[in-house]
Amino acid sequence: MSDLTERAAKLDADDPLAGRRDLFDLDDGVVYLDGNSLGALPRHVPAKVADVLTRQWGRMRIRSWTEGGWWEAPERIGDRIAPLVGAAPGHVVVGDSTSVNVFRAVISALRMTPGRAEILVDATTFPTDGYIAASAARLAGATVRAVHPAEVPTALSGNTAVVLLNHVDYRSGRLHDMGALTAAVHNAGARVIWDLSHSAGALPVDLKTSNVDFAVGCTYKYLNGGPGAPAFFAVRPDLLPQLDQPLGGWCSHREPFAMDSEYVAAEGIAKARAGTPEIVSLLTLDAALDVWDGVDLHQLRQKSLALTGFFEDCVAELAPAARSVTPEIRGSQVSLSCVDAERVMGELIARGVVGDHRPPDLLRFGFTPLYTRFVDALRAAEILGEILA
Ligand SMILES: Cc1ncc(COP(=O)(O)O)c(C=O)c1O
Repeated sequence: MSDLTERAAKLDADDPLAGRRDLFDLDDGVVYLDGNSLGALPRHVPAKVADVLTRQWGRMRIRSWTEGGWWEAPERIGDRIAPLVGAAPGHVVVGDSTSVNVFRAVISALRMTPGRAEILVDATTFPTDGYIAASAARLAGATVRAVHPAEVPTALSGNTAVVLLNHVDYRSGRLHDMGALTAAVHNAGARVIWDLSHSAGALPVDLKTSNVDFAVGCTYKYLNGGPGAPAFFAVRPDLLPQLDQPLGGWCSHREPFAMDSEYVAAEGIAKARAGTPEIVSLLTLDAALDVWDGVDLHQLRQKSLALTGFFEDCVAELAPAARSVTPEIRGSQVSLSCVDAERVMGELIARGVVGDHRPPDLLRFGFTPLYTRFVDALRAAEILGEILA
């Protein structure tokens, strides 16, 4: 047995989260390292979704809105996500896409910072955040400046209204210092929005301790909510009373069924809703969140760091033509740079190692700690080594 094979076997044997893998519908023929794009399906979800369709919709029909808990689902599911991102209960709501929630957060933050007109956007952001911030700026008569997260403290000024940051860089996997950057933004009198798409479910996040104003994020990645699962929106408790979000619709009205022509926002986090919730997707996510019951997020973090570190060791030994560009302070992914990366990823996928390619030269591998084994990391590096050789 090689040294790496022995290490993988021991790490898997000692893994306190090893049993969680059985909760997912995964086959041993494929090494799935793309949970940072689309999380795997938890086995129990199809039966729960079938119940939503056949009994709740099919038999109960419209009664499900009131008797089946459909109406409150956005807030109730928000409360299930809250502990995963360190938010207070009653301050997270689920609905719409992350893109829409970025818009909601940027305009809300601009409305809280009158007299200031500049939005700083993470220069390394996933594109949608930048596009949406630019559009929100045009609408609000503000300007946008792209800055690297490390340069935010020096870029802040008395004109900065909002800073929009990604917690984990989707390309390199770099993890940014949420506490320090949030404090810097607050010292300048501005508001911060964190996009947690690559950290929610990948590592413990503590919005409360970091005093974060707004957070948004995808639920179809490390939270395994399914394709197109609705996103979450979180707001700092003391900001909720003054929250004036731009997409207030009938579902965020204080009395939705009064059908009043005048808009009066609801009092709690329901004021961050807009229209009819995506019930089938929401309840798919709700079911998927069961896999988190009893998970210790610090154990999750330890496993994630061990997995990504072990993968890098395997790559260094077995596939030295690829080089990790992921810093040590990281989320739960490793990105490798190599020549002809697009073709290499195509071959990896054809040989049962599923990651993804980000242009021009990156192979991106997500290590979902709930279901990825150390032996998977080794197998991926072995096959990569064969392809690159
Ligand atoms: C950081 C980040 N924000 C937002 C998105 C996408 O948002 P949406 O669900 O609106 O497509 C992604 C998707 O990969 C992402 O990585």
